[in-house]
Amino acid sequence: MKQLSIIVLTTLCLSSSLFAQQKPSIIPQPVRMEMSEGFFQVDKQTSLKFNAADPQVKSVMQYFTNRVKELSGIALLQNAGGGKQIRFSIDKNSSSSSEGYVLDVQKNVIDVKAEDSKGFFYAIQSLLQTFPQVRTNAILQVPCMHVEDEPRFKWRGMMLDVSRHFAPIETVKEYIDLMAMYKLNTLHWHLTDDPGWRIEIKKYPKLTQVGAWRVDQNDKIWGSRPQAKPGETPTYGGFYTQDELKEVVKYAQLRNVTIVPEIEMPGHSAAAVASYPWLSCKQIPQLPMTGGNYTNMASNYCAGNDSVFTFLQDVLKEVMAIFPSTYIHVGGDEVDKGPWKQCAKCQSRMKANGLKTEEELQSYLITRMEKFINKNHRRMIGWDEILEGGLAPEATVMSWRGEAGGIEAAKMNHNVVMTPGTPLYFDHYQAGPEGEPLAFGGFNTLKMVYDYNAYPKELPADKQQFVLGAQANLWTEMISTRAGIEYMVLPRMLALGETLWTPAEKKNWIDFTQRIKYHYRGFELKGYNYSKGNFAVDINPVSKDGKLWVELKIEDPELEIRYTTDGSFPTANSLKYEAPVSINSSVVVKAVAVKYGRVMSNQPAEQIVVMHKGVGSNVQYAFKPANSYMAAGMNSLTDGIRGKSALNKSWHGFESNDLIATIDLGKSTSIHKLSIGCLQQYGSWIFLPSDVVFEVSTDGVNFTKVSVVKNDVDVNSRENIIKEFSSKINADNVRYVRVTAHSVKTCPAGHPGEGKNAWLFADEIVVE
Ligand code: ACM
Ligand code: ZN
Repeated sequence: MKQLSIIVLTTLCLSSSLFAQQKPSIIPQPVRMEMSEGFFQVDKQTSLKFNAADPQVKSVMQYFTNRVKELSGIALLQNAGGGKQIRFSIDKNSSSSSEGYVLDVQKNVIDVKAEDSKGFFYAIQSLLQTFPQVRTNAILQVPCMHVEDEPRFKWRGMMLDVSRHFAPIETVKEYIDLMAMYKLNTLHWHLTDDPGWRIEIKKYPKLTQVGAWRVDQNDKIWGSRPQAKPGETPTYGGFYTQDELKEVVKYAQLRNVTIVPEIEMPGHSAAAVASYPWLSCKQIPQLPMTGGNYTNMASNYCAGNDSVFTFLQDVLKEVMAIFPSTYIHVGGDEVDKGPWKQCAKCQSRMKANGLKTEEELQSYLITRMEKFINKNHRRMIGWDEILEGGLAPEATVMSWRGEAGGIEAAKMNHNVVMTPGTPLYFDHYQAGPEGEPLAFGGFNTLKMVYDYNAYPKELPADKQQFVLGAQANLWTEMISTRAGIEYMVLPRMLALGETLWTPAEKKNWIDFTQRIKYHYRGFELKGYNYSKGNFAVDINPVSKDGKLWVELKIEDPELEIRYTTDGSFPTANSLKYEAPVSINSSVVVKAVAVKYGRVMSNQPAEQIVVMHKGVGSNVQYAFKPANSYMAAGMNSLTDGIRGKSALNKSWHGFESNDLIATIDLGKSTSIHKLSIGCLQQYGSWIFLPSDVVFEVSTDGVNFTKVSVVKNDVDVNSRENIIKEFSSKINADNVRYVRVTAHSVKTCPAGHPGEGKNAWLFADEIVVE
């Protein structure tokens, strides 16, 4: 009887799979997709039908033909009669967007309707995602279905920084191909910055003869590279000729990707100044930068010198002749206004124009450039700092320091593109950091990208029309290879594509995690170095009434979590996580994701958790931690979670301020040891405190100093150091503990940030 029921079940499954249509794994999820019975099979008689008189349509058809040939060896016929047809027709009523399309697949005919060839291109992307992803002997077949599709946002972008590390044309083309596959349509190409000028400008040849090359220090981490010394030969870099750039523009156009070039001004211009020192205020010759070391470097254009404006206009003239985009990006971020304060020309410009602050001087420069750009029938876009000192009248704002700049600009009826660091900086970690390649800090997982909504909650509904869309940014301080680029954008680019294309109510994370498997398989077959980032386990503390637990989470619901607390490497047979794990002593929690009995994680997630008398205590600060380094909240110093050398969520950061923290243990107790963990990371401007003072109190008013522990680590040490400042004591009736860590305040002599604010980082006050 038992056996019989199994046989019946198997038969049912088999027969249903013969008829039921499996939904293809299209990303981004189309707006409407209805499956019906059967397949359209591509064969040697299959023909494309289209208007061959339209050159744009013709090249899209050639693209489709090439792809089908690669996948199957079949050469699709063009406008032939007889066999099965894939018919492409322009229909102005098919969609409310020029990028939308309607796709109707039946057994003998596929009908594609769109307002123009962009819609055809996207219909083709959807069709291609129903095929095998590399050449096999399988028949190419499309399930019968009806699809109606169009994008939610107009600006669906990816930025690529080719200044910090030059990317060859082939890599850029691959980036464009991936963007096109996931229906992203804007490549913001960051072509100039301090460490390299990458675009040939015929009128100023030194920009690429000099500005594109630097002394090779790839053996050192970006932030700890010294300045190049006179006599060293610049050998590392590269640039694109104008012909190469035009070729990429054409390549992108066919794939419905608009390239928005960025020419940074007035800051991030050290490479230009190295080429032509007269562009800066001080006009002193300098070598191209090797990394992030700005010591004695000029990185701004002089805003008081009219020749600089002539230069910038000449450059933009050549840029606009290469790139037909509506938008030209002028940067505008992170301008050090110091040199302008010291410059006679800049100061007299301010006086002559009634400008009260250097921010207004920046606004003057940007507004003047906007006039030039508008006169050339283009529009200007810049990073959100262009709001400071007054926004240029027609400017579009790219909001990167959170969403505030975008909200402010949209409220002023200016167009905006959202690209907040969290979650859209793809140079940040997506997992780990255990087992991950060194990233620029931060933590932006696949699900965080998926859940992003480009319409900020705070923005009134009538201002949403000014949000053009969003983009993710790939800065390349830590990324020097094509494989490195692939790793950071795959698979987060897929989540971005869906969040910018699919209507919010049609998005479904669980369904996305199912569909993405088809794409992972494709990445493997094509040899892309993609991240399995969403397999990382997130370890979080939970404390209540002085007790401590850790909660383990994973974004992919199909995975189970296995963990250890004895320091051993977890396997598929380790303890299965079911509920928060009680922590009674100091342990290392290690956890992996497991599926079908296989460990999926690169490396276990790992966290030191300490149980001590202060866990869960309330912390009062004399100076609040900086907003960007709030760790897990105000009580993160007593959450039992120790920091790691990567700057993830465990650290509280203080910019130049001392850390003065008072914790309330909730009841009087005896203590025998006090400690605080601090970090030194020279390249990130983070230094150990000069000393730490421990005090105790019974009433929270009168404190007794117990000890002062001096720092014995060299402030110039470039190692990543986590140091425990500890003091043995013997005290009873202690209810309050005060810890004062004195900041070194400023970066030391010889440091790239010499004299500027230093950071102090602490992870935990341990009370034993
Ligand atoms: C930026 O990240 N500096 C725009
Ligand atoms: Zn100046």
